[in-house]
Formats: sequence, C-alpha cells, structure tokens
Amino acid sequence: MNNHKIRHLIEPEDFTLEELNEVVALGKKMYEAPAEYKRACEGKILATLFYEPSTRTRFSFETAMLRLGGSIIGFSDANTSSVSKGESIADTIRCMSAYADIAVMRHPKEGAPKLASHYASIPIINGGDGGHQHPTQTLTDLLTIKMYKETIEGHTVAFCGDLKFGRTVHSLIRTLARYNTKKFILISPEELTLPDTLKRSLKQDFDVELQEARYIEDVISEIDILYMTRIQKERFFNEADYARLKDSYLLNQSKLSHAKKDMIVMHPLPRVNEIAYDVDDDPRGVYFKQAELGVYARMALITKLLGVDVSC
Ligand code: NCD
Repeated sequence: MNNHKIRHLIEPEDFTLEELNEVVALGKKMYEAPAEYKRACEGKILATLFYEPSTRTRFSFETAMLRLGGSIIGFSDANTSSVSKGESIADTIRCMSAYADIAVMRHPKEGAPKLASHYASIPIINGGDGGHQHPTQTLTDLLTIKMYKETIEGHTVAFCGDLKFGRTVHSLIRTLARYNTKKFILISPEELTLPDTLKRSLKQDFDVELQEARYIEDVISEIDILYMTRIQKERFFNEADYARLKDSYLLNQSKLSHAKKDMIVMHPLPRVNEIAYDVDDDPRGVYFKQAELGVYARMALITKLLGVDVSC
C-alpha cells in the first residue's frame, strides 16, 4: 500500500512549529465558533483503539469527531476485541484501515502506535504509549497556554510529580523547548526525576536552563506555568515504591499564596492527590478548562490529518 501522503502523529516532533501553531490557531477558532465546523467530517469515521484505560483522551476524541459531524467506532478494552485471541497490532491495524478513515491508539507498550503506523493506510494518532509520548495532550496543553498566557514562548515552566514515567511531561517539555522556553524547573522526588537522556537532549538541542527542585514551596514564586502530574502507579515495578512516593506533592491554597497572581496551574488529569480541592475555585487552576480545550485541539488535529477543508 502506498503510504507516502499519509501523515501520522506519533510524537510532537512529527509536526513543525508552523504546523503546531496551525493546529493551535484552528483549535482556538473551533472553540470560539464550534457550530461552523459541524459538518467538516461528515461521512468520516474515527476508530479509537484503546489498549489502556482512558477517560479524557478517548472521550475528547469521540466528542471531537462527533462535533465535526463524523462517526466513531472502536474499543476501550482490548479484551473485547480479537487482541484477546492473540491478534497482532499489524493485523488489527490493516483491517481497521479498511473500516475507518483515521485512528487513535493508546497502548501500554512504548512504540506500539509507531508500529501500527507502518501497517496503516490511514492516519494514526498516538493517544499515549507507555511512559513515552502523548502528543495530543501536548496539543491540548499548547492551546491552553495560548488561551491563558497569550504566547507559548518565554515562560518559566515548572513540571511537578512523576517526571520519570509521565509521558505528558516528556512530550510537552521538548515541545516547549522548541518554542524557546528559557527555563524549566523540575520538581520531583529523586527516584522520579526526568530521564537523563531527555535532560541531556534538552541541554544539547536547546538553549535552556534546567533547575531541579525537591519542594514546590522553594520555587513557586518564580513560576509562570505549573504543570502538576500524577505519580504513574501503573508504571511502577513494585507496590512499596509507589506507596512511598504517591503522596509526594500536594498543591493547596497555602502554597499558592506565594505564587504569582497570573501563574496558571495545569494538570493533564486524572488527579489523585496532587492538587487539593481548595485550588479548584482559584482562577489560576485551569485544569478543567484544559480538559475541555482538549476537544478543540483534537478537532483541529483530525481535520488536519484528514486534509478536510475547514474554510467552510
Ligand atoms: C494522562 C495520560 O494518560 O498520560 N492522562 C491524560 O491523557 N489526560 C496523564 C495521567 O494518566 O496521569
């Protein structure tokens, strides 16, 4: 099959900065006037192939396609598909390519969506692969930053929590470095620091300062964007380590009182115990709006990958 013209989104670097800007700008337009796009994907089918649990990513993709006038098929539990009979990703995706026009895949194994893209004759979107990448969360995050901070460039951005296994962090940090972020603050327990290879590549490829910190309180007054993350229970090798680290951070009003008035608190969700409920009503806590914006970022992405004309 001739795959030359098909575009996939496996990691944010599959898109140029220009293309990322295009998706963000279109996502913003779609948020502001969703009705204008309600027939953009009429007759098109999105397949959601979720081999790992999800709430926001799957439902926001489904909502996105439905709001574009398209239809959805898929599974959210691989045990209900032929995967449970031992079918390979390659065979599943070959067949799905005949049923759907575009597919999003989430998988616990790093690289699975990339492998799928080699066998697909439709665009494949990585909906999160193991502890590796989560490019559509990055699009959502970029749109959120654009809406709240006007520019994506130039902020002091802190990532807090599980920087070792958090795929949302791995995707976003390199992308923000491409956007000329000058300083990142990395707040994590020693066992869950950002992988060395990623730190090295950030320093080598970009002119960026990386400051490591152990406690939010020590650095909160400097931060423009605070990206909180959950300790990734499912990636731990043993329960005891998770139990020891799971409550490492709790952002609450008392800590927030030392933050800038226009700092924003982001979180890809689900939160477990990282953000106290008393932060929800603070205008700086934008994580639920971020989840909402995920629909529009994904609407923009779907139209881009399907090559539909959205000037309609
Ligand atoms: C994230 C994920 O799946 O990586 N969730 C999401 O897609 N919004 C974050 C997480 O599970 O902690």
